[in-house]
Amino acid sequence: MEASLSRLLTGLSVHISRSDGRVHLATVKSVDGVKSTIMVEWHERDICRGKEVSSSKNSTLSICVCVRKRPLNKQEVNKKEIDVVSVPGKGAVLVHEPKQKVDLTKYLDNQVFQFDYCFDETSTNDLVYRFTAKPLVQSIFEGAMATCFAYGQTGSGKTHTMGGDFTGKLQNSSKGIYALAAQDVFALLSQRRYASLDLCPYVSFFEIYNGKVYDLLNKKAKLRVLEDDRQQVQVVGLQEEYVSSAEEVIKMIEMGSTCRTSGQTSANANSSRSHAVLQIALRCSDRAKTLHGKFSLVDLAGNERGTDVSCNDRSTLVETAEINRSLLALKECIRSLGRNSDHIPFRMSTLTKVLRDSFIGEKSRTCMIAMVSPGMASCDYTMNTLRYADSMYDAISQVSELEEKVYSELQV
Ligand SMILES: Nc1ncnc2c1ncn2[C@@H]1O[C@H](COP(=O)(O)OP(=O)(O)O)[C@@H](O)[C@H]1O
Ligand SMILES: [Mg+2]
Repeated sequence: MEASLSRLLTGLSVHISRSDGRVHLATVKSVDGVKSTIMVEWHERDICRGKEVSSSKNSTLSICVCVRKRPLNKQEVNKKEIDVVSVPGKGAVLVHEPKQKVDLTKYLDNQVFQFDYCFDETSTNDLVYRFTAKPLVQSIFEGAMATCFAYGQTGSGKTHTMGGDFTGKLQNSSKGIYALAAQDVFALLSQRRYASLDLCPYVSFFEIYNGKVYDLLNKKAKLRVLEDDRQQVQVVGLQEEYVSSAEEVIKMIEMGSTCRTSGQTSANANSSRSHAVLQIALRCSDRAKTLHGKFSLVDLAGNERGTDVSCNDRSTLVETAEINRSLLALKECIRSLGRNSDHIPFRMSTLTKVLRDSFIGEKSRTCMIAMVSPGMASCDYTMNTLRYADSMYDAISQVSELEEKVYSELQV
């Protein structure tokens, strides 16, 4: 029966829909009746792309993958650095990769990537926010566990995007995605349709460095991560403060960000080696303060590879290995989520452990913003970042309802 079904479906033209609502016309290559998945292929900007898609109808899953390119900075302009990244629109990003032929002639190899959205160097934090984290804020009022990640090499703009614009070393915390999300939480709390839920917002802010959790709202107190017998992960002793206004949250972000970098010999070097997590939890006003929804906003550690570590100092190597492990774990968890897999490998790292809630259940919403530096000197890192984001983007398509109907009719 399954063999004949597979034969019937193979070669069929289907629509697959992406998490942002875009639809591609694709061709069925093979069918897996056990997993209820279909392997499809389609053409996109002259590139043939293939992937396994789920035919499950019940999924409420949503993953959005975006790219943000920062402008060349003053030093790069002074060094006459070449901008090798272009954003032509419609979710595409191009990298003009410098290559050399065997006869040593140099040429630019154009690599195209497609994502849900790509933001060019003129985009403001406000614009990026509107297309990435803003829809997730609403989802936590509907009971979702939402997460927004800023991923990329050190200096690509993760902290600028999440924490706020820099003027020199001074950061305007009211202009980052953290603050914009907090403002929208308060705006929605006062809306009539949510006011009746009687929800209270709580904020926590912590850092994960070398697999250890430090509370940024409590003088960097070192905290333990424990999993109870019901597999609930707890960060023991983490401060979760009730907040009554967005201004209060912004003050906490400022305090936490100062705490994150203070007392270090090289402030930027150290903050780039840790993940910072700001969580806004909505709790019911019952006695148990039942969790209704939670938004985790994560400024990830720099993704530069171990090969880049010029010093062979043991602690730096351990640090790098830990970062690579957690970023790999994150990728695997998001890919599993995208595939509707039952197994989410969240135990692979502290980062994915503390974000466990965000990877399980039907109400997970995730947004990944991959930051890229535009300069030619960063080209290899930019390619690594885009490949990482691409592997997530690849995991998130679903067969549209029309074809599911065809599929289920053929199955009976
Ligand atoms: N989109 C942007 N527009 C203007 N400047 C930016 C942008 N993104 C980053 N920068 C600047 O680049 C520098 C590095 O950014 P930062 O956010 O600290 O990088 P990361 O956190 O990824 O290491 C900062 O001085 C920041 O102001
Ligand atoms: Mg940073």
